[in-house]
This record gives sequence, structure tokens and C-alpha cells, in this order.
Amino acid sequence: MCNQCNKKTYYITTPIYYPSGNMHIGHTYTTVAADTMTRFKRLTGYDAYFLTGTDEHGQKIEQKAAEAGVSPKEYVDKIVANTKDLWKLMNIEYDDFIRTTDERHEKIVQKIFKQFFDQGDIYKASYEGQYCTPCESFWTASQLVEKDGVKVCPDCGRPTQLVTEESYFFRMSKYQDWLIEYIESHPDFIQPASRANEMINNFLKPGLQDLCVSRTSFKWGVQVDFDPKHVVYVWIDALSNYITALGYGTDHDELMQKYWPANVHLVGKEIVRFHTIYWPIMLHALGLPLPKQVFAHGWLLFGNDKMSKSKGNVVYPQPIVNRYGADALRYYLLREMPFGADGNYTNEAFLTRMNADLANDLGNLVSRTVAMIEKYFDGVIPAWTDAVDDTVDAPLKEHCAALPKLVEAQMDKLQYSQALAEIWKVIGECNKYIDLTQPWVLGKDESKKDRLANVMLMLAECVRFAAVLIAPFMPHTPERIFEQLGVNDEDLKTWESLASFGQLPAGTKVKKGEALFPRIDIKKELEALEGPKEEKKPEKAEKKQEKKQEKKEKKVEIPEGCIAFGDFEKIQLRVAKVCACEKVEKSDKLLKFDLDLGTEHRTVLSGIAKFHNPEELVGKNLILLANLAPRKIMGIESQGMLLSAVKVNEDGSETLRLLTADSIMPAGAEIG
Ligand code: ME8
Ligand code: MG
Repeated sequence: MCNQCNKKTYYITTPIYYPSGNMHIGHTYTTVAADTMTRFKRLTGYDAYFLTGTDEHGQKIEQKAAEAGVSPKEYVDKIVANTKDLWKLMNIEYDDFIRTTDERHEKIVQKIFKQFFDQGDIYKASYEGQYCTPCESFWTASQLVEKDGVKVCPDCGRPTQLVTEESYFFRMSKYQDWLIEYIESHPDFIQPASRANEMINNFLKPGLQDLCVSRTSFKWGVQVDFDPKHVVYVWIDALSNYITALGYGTDHDELMQKYWPANVHLVGKEIVRFHTIYWPIMLHALGLPLPKQVFAHGWLLFGNDKMSKSKGNVVYPQPIVNRYGADALRYYLLREMPFGADGNYTNEAFLTRMNADLANDLGNLVSRTVAMIEKYFDGVIPAWTDAVDDTVDAPLKEHCAALPKLVEAQMDKLQYSQALAEIWKVIGECNKYIDLTQPWVLGKDESKKDRLANVMLMLAECVRFAAVLIAPFMPHTPERIFEQLGVNDEDLKTWESLASFGQLPAGTKVKKGEALFPRIDIKKELEALEGPKEEKKPEKAEKKQEKKQEKKEKKVEIPEGCIAFGDFEKIQLRVAKVCACEKVEKSDKLLKFDLDLGTEHRTVLSGIAKFHNPEELVGKNLILLANLAPRKIMGIESQGMLLSAVKVNEDGSETLRLLTADSIMPAGAEIG
């Protein structure tokens, strides 16, 4: 609670990004999500604070700068400037941008490190282990995984280096039991919940290793002030940003008092481990409360690969925004995939959604509404009359009046796509309402003028609701709508003004403007973004990949009857938890499954009713071929295939058992 304004506080952060290269649409995704939540919280009466920044130390940046022939600081300064420009272009309004090279940060990191050492959480020893520079992550030999005969980083699949150094270590092991207990007793702490199971089962229960927290083999980091040969491990340095930015450890820690603990750290799923294991332990060791939530969102993929600076397979927002505006891209990012799940970014999907949701649904509703008020009421919003038809008016009115609460409920769960879906349901209903009430017929009959007035008011008021509610997602668009609707009164643009339906005053003068989102020719636009078809970049990249794979495979002779490793790699097997299972009506063979894949649910049919009772399967971890093309069986779409083992008995009959995975494996775990 803020003492001055009596508002509830809300503190949200993004990861601080590595300025090893320019930020792409993946970083934009997280930052847009944080900005939208901040705006939503402000709209709904919170005192919100939004922090982002850059993680500038470490071996990776040092190497990049050396390659570019400049100092690390020169290297990152340039990228930080570009990053700030990009956030401006995306209409992102952060309250603070922290750089780990800021003096305010470095000083406190040194202080924190010293405190850990003084209180016995950190000790000095010699270290030998594997280091993944792109992930800035330590691994033991047994944690590495094998790929094409080489041991690689289990997170990113790239080769690691052997590191032998005298180092400081953090006694993580000491806090292991406390952390397990904490995570288990705070079910909201790690979201989505499947990530909490993953952390407990994969990292905490098997035993936490003490963490190497200093390096001596390079210089670009925060120096350990009591042992200057060492620099602080970049993750200890980076995670601290969430409190150093608030003035923790200084005489000016008002922001810390006001905003800590954070309400939510937004992170991509690859860095959940750092945020839910190391960071909580660091905070606990400092005697500070933990953030209320760490929310792990999914990845924007390019083909089947995570887009990433170090892989170079990225899409940059600038050409898209310069052509279609930041609001369209913000909308797409937040609408297309549920927050928590992975999704592909393609220009085609973006353009398709722009046409469908923005040009058709929203854009048309606004332009039709304003055009009809101009045509039938000389552009002046009429007063409500008693010509009500509650078979059509009441449902729309009730739905629209309920909308703010529906949106808020989704936003409380960080379900941006669902929040937008709620708004678009009402927009869709409005467009249907126009078809049902047929204003063009009412307009021909002077005696129906009263009825027509109410129809126009219903629509105009719904448009006002939509404009207020989309503001956090698409900050530019509402003003363009209000201008057309003639709404100047700031009070009609607030969350409070949505408390009751029907506040748009009679006499307001509407003014038709440009189409909000003109319909576009997708084929032409694709060419504009990607060049003529044959030069389509994603295909090019994919082809290259295929060629590489082919080359690799050519070297090895593939015996008759065998498949190449590359073919096997195409198969996606996943652990699928059975949420529900029932017999399909009118079929004696088929069972219908509702399967949890961690970030999504799948409906799958399987012809095994003779062998398994549906009840016995609920809760089991089965194995799903997850990238089989969907197909319809008895009118139901089956989205994958469950694997089973079959035995032929002596009498020719068969025994079949579904394959299961160990119950400690989380839903969605990849098999390979
Ligand atoms: O990990 N899809 O920095 P980073 C979705 N410095 N989100 C993506 C993405 C993608 N393809 N690519 C990047 C670091 N992101 C550390 C963080 S925090 C104390 C230190 C987003 O430059 C996503 O939020 O690798 C991800 O977690 C973050 O950028 C990683 O940025
Ligand atoms: Mg990364």
C-alpha cells in the first residue's frame, strides 16, 4: 500500500536482457506483456512500478566486444541505446531501466556478496566443471546431455567448456529443504504450476549443488572487493537488479520499502531455474521476503527452434511496427498464444489476425457504428428511448456490463490472450447485433426511429467499453476510437466509468475518421515484408537447416530398414497426463482422452477400449506422439497418438497396454 496515495502497489519486472545483440521479438514479447500489465493495474487503481534493463557483464559480452574490436562498455552502450529506442517504438513506458554497469547497482552487488561471505553463505574452494557461455550456466559432467556424440548444455544444446578455477561457492544445499517447503506451501509462487513440479523434481529433490559464484578467468564483471582477482558470477549480479533498482542497501530505499516484494517477475521458461532456486535463496539469505510470483511464459519459435540472439534465427519488430503500428504487433503478441505456452511467430499469422480481429471485427464495428449515427441521426448520439427489444438488447447489455470483471479475472491470472478473447467476444456480439436488428431496415421507417436510437446507443456504448478495455494492450488505438465517437470527457475513458452501462451522453457529436486498421492484402504484404516468395526468409533458413542435416546424414551410410537420426528427431514424443478419459458414444473401440501437456490440453482418441477401463487411466502419465497431423474420427478431432505395446497371445488374441512414463515426470516433458 502506498502511504501517500493509499493505493495498492504493484511491482512488475522483466528479465534484464543480455545486450550481446539487438533485442528481437522475443524480448519484445516479455516487455510488452509487462507494460500491458502495468497499464492495466494503473487503469484499475493500482500504484504500479515497472522495471526493465540490461544484464551487461559476463564472458559472453566480453567475447562479443572483443570480436567487434571495442571495449565491453562501448559495445553494450550502443545496444542499450537501440534497446531503449525499440521500447519507445513499442510504446513501452517503464519506470526505471537498470543497467548492471550502473554504479548504483555494482556497489550494492559488492555489498551483498560481502554479506554472504561474512555470514558464511559463501566459501572459497577450487572448482572444476563445465560452463555454457551462451547460458552463463555451470553444469556437472553428469548433467550434460549427449548430442551427435558430443556432450552439450542440457538447456541450449551447445558445447560447454571445462573450467578449472579457484572460486567462491554459495552454500545452496543449506537452503534446499527450506525452499522445497516454501514452494510446496506457496502454490502461486511459480506459475504455470507445472514449472514448480519441474523445479522440485528435477533440481531440488535430487539435491542442490553448491553454486560457483565467482570467476577469475575474465575481467568483465563486478569485482569482489575483498578479493579483486574475482568477479561476481553474472547471475548473482543480474538477479540482484530487482532490488538494487529500488535502492536496496542504500540510505534511499524508499522504493524498496514501498514496492518490495515484487508482485511478479516475468521470465521466459529457460530462466525459471535461476529465478525460483537461486534468487529465492539469495533473498532468504538476505532476510528479505520472496517475490509473490515468478511467471514463466513460453517461447516464440522460429520453425521448431527458440528464436535467440545467439542462434541468429530472429525476427525484429521494427519493420513490422513501421508498417502496421505498434498496437497491431502488441495485440498479436498478446493474443496469439496463451501466456505460458510456446508459439510460432510468422508474418502470415500476424497479417491474418490483423485482418480478422483488427480490421474486420474491431475496425468494422467502429466504422459501421459511427457511419450509421451520421446517416440516421446527423452524427449526433441520440437519447435512450423506451423502444427496447429485450430479446436482443438485454443479453448484449448484460454481457458488456460484465466485461470489465471478466477481463480483470483473466488479467489476475496473466492470461492476456483470454482477456483479449473476452473483449473480442463482445465485439463479435455487437457485429451480430447489427445483423439481428438490421438498422438499415429500421432507418427506412420513420416510426422505428426510437428503436433505431436505442440500437445506435447500444453499439456506441459497447464501442466505448471496448476502447477503455483495450487501452493497456493497445495504448494508441483508444484515442482514435474516442475521437470518432466524439468522447472528449476524460471521465468517460476510465475504468470507473464502466461501472454502469449507458453513460455515453446524448448530444455527443461523432465524426467518421480513417479506418482504424485498413484491410490488407496478405500476399502483397508478405512480399513487402519478406521479399518475393522464393526468397522467403524462413524457408531459406529451413532449407539451409535441411541441407545441413542432409550433408550430415550423407556421411553415414544408412542400412536398409533403418532411419536417419534426423528423421527420428522430427518425432515429438511428450509425457501426457490424463485429465479425463471416457468411452466414445456409439463406438465399442474408442476412448476419448483429455490430456495435459503442461502448457496445453489435447483431445486424443485411441482404439483401446477393449483393453483399458477409462477410470483406471485418469492421472496416469502416458506417452503421446505429439506432432502427428490431427485427424477427425467420428466427428471428433484427435490431436496426436498414444503409444502402446501389443502382444499376440497363443490363441491369436491380443493384449495391449498403453506405455506410461514415471510419475515424477511433469506433464509435457519431452521424450527423446
Ligand atoms: O536470460 N521467446 O537474458 P536474455 C520468448 N540476462 N521470450 C524470449 C525469447 C523467445 N524466443 N527470446 C528471449 C537472460 N526472450 C538474462 C536474464 S534476469 C535477472 C537475467 C525473453 O537476453 C524472455 O523473457 O537471454 C527470456 O527469458 C529473456 O528474453 C532472455 O533474455
Ligand atoms: Mg537467453
